[in-house]
Amino acid sequence: MLANVVKSILYVLPAYVANGSPVVGVRFLGRRTPIDLGARAWDGRRVLGDGKTIEGLIIGVSLGTLTGLILYLCGNPGGHRAALEPLLLALGAMLGDILGSFVKRRIGLRRGQPAPCLDQLGFLVAALALSSLVYGLPSWMDSSTLLLLLVVTGLLHLGTNYLAYLLGLKREPY
Ligand code: CTP
Ligand code: MG
Repeated sequence: MLANVVKSILYVLPAYVANGSPVVGVRFLGRRTPIDLGARAWDGRRVLGDGKTIEGLIIGVSLGTLTGLILYLCGNPGGHRAALEPLLLALGAMLGDILGSFVKRRIGLRRGQPAPCLDQLGFLVAALALSSLVYGLPSWMDSSTLLLLLVVTGLLHLGTNYLAYLLGLKREPY
């Protein structure tokens, strides 16, 4: 059981790195081009908002994929079934994050306002959905492992975001 949870964390590591690296990367890059280029939707609010940048998207997909490729080439402890799988996990995580911001703006939440569960787990669900579309869920990832992975991810997300806040990388502690 514990071994499966550790394996599942290594499996979704490309998604974790994709989700987390833009916070640091964009800060050091110093360039921020909003994906929506400032456009507003039918409701007058921003389509995505300033928290979703092209630079962040590129950094997240690249570093997430790279992380998975390194794992894949170093004994494949995450059980990826192809070299392409980390790319799908990283891309899925970033698309899920973008979709989450789209939903947040449509329900009237401003950039950075919390959306419990969506903020913590949306990226992971989208990453698993995209990789599953191509490869299916890994056979060893049973429902209890999946459930534990969601709980661990939620806690890790809250913990790392708080750390990023303490380090002055994020404006909000969540
Ligand atoms: N980020 C980025 N580009 C992305 C994703 C994230 O530049 N595609 C950076 C932004 O600096 C963002 C930070 O990572 O502020 C944290 O991401 P997140 O919490 O997802 O964004 P929020 O600012 O909270 O915005 P939203 O309310 O839209 O989620
Ligand atoms: Mg946020």
